[in-house]
Amino acid sequence: MPRASNAMNAVKIAPSILSADFARLGEEIQRVEEAGADLLHVDVMDGHYVPNLTIGPPVVAALRKATRLPLDVHLMMTNPDAFLRDFRDAGADLISVHVEVVPHLHRTLETIRALGAQPGVALNPGTSLTLLDEILPFTDFVLVMTVNPGFGGQRFIEACLPKVARLQRMIASRGLEVAIETDGGIGEHNARALVEQGARWIVAGSSIFGAPDSRLAVKRLREAATGATPAAAREVGETVAR
Ligand code: DX5
Ligand code: ZN
Repeated sequence: MPRASNAMNAVKIAPSILSADFARLGEEIQRVEEAGADLLHVDVMDGHYVPNLTIGPPVVAALRKATRLPLDVHLMMTNPDAFLRDFRDAGADLISVHVEVVPHLHRTLETIRALGAQPGVALNPGTSLTLLDEILPFTDFVLVMTVNPGFGGQRFIEACLPKVARLQRMIASRGLEVAIETDGGIGEHNARALVEQGARWIVAGSSIFGAPDSRLAVKRLREAATGATPAAAREVGETVAR
């Protein structure tokens, strides 16, 4: 079973299939995998917690057969507890639940871990980081929503940038190893700023699958996020040097 690396400092690119062509999901995934994506982000929406419906365990099981990438399943549901085993059996490697809806968060995270997946806590732009205070030592990652969940292609909420920085300080001051994942409205224009504030796992849907070439989009997003010299600029530099 593929697992996410434990290297806390590595930037990981996590394409969200929400913006992929669902009729060609296998090919879409193959492209981002070839381009070096680290995780595949899977948005599960129940029509209650968020005003949209997406996919369930059968699609996750199909994805499991189509890729070796770790499946990062983001449960935007009012009752995720009822489906944890189903998603894990389907092949989820990482499972995040929303702090706003889960009544016994510690129990839920321990259940995810006991099922053999990595647990994560997701929180919305309007949700205070103080809700993480007690649960932080029990989670592997925190998914900071940088748009209100429900749809791909929304505009990044700028106020989430200092929130990521505050979360990073909270984690560091307690000596914890908790990865920060950010999700919503992310592309080449803001990935670096998020990484500078402490984000490490970068989810991107429309900026990857909405691009003319999703392979190139993954590579360029990684270059932007890590601050690497873009391949295009390097080529220009080499031409000038010659
Ligand atoms: C939104 C989802 C996101 C979404 C991101 O509710 O959780 O994962 O797919 O899509 P973009 O990158 O288009 O904002
Ligand atoms: Zn998501």
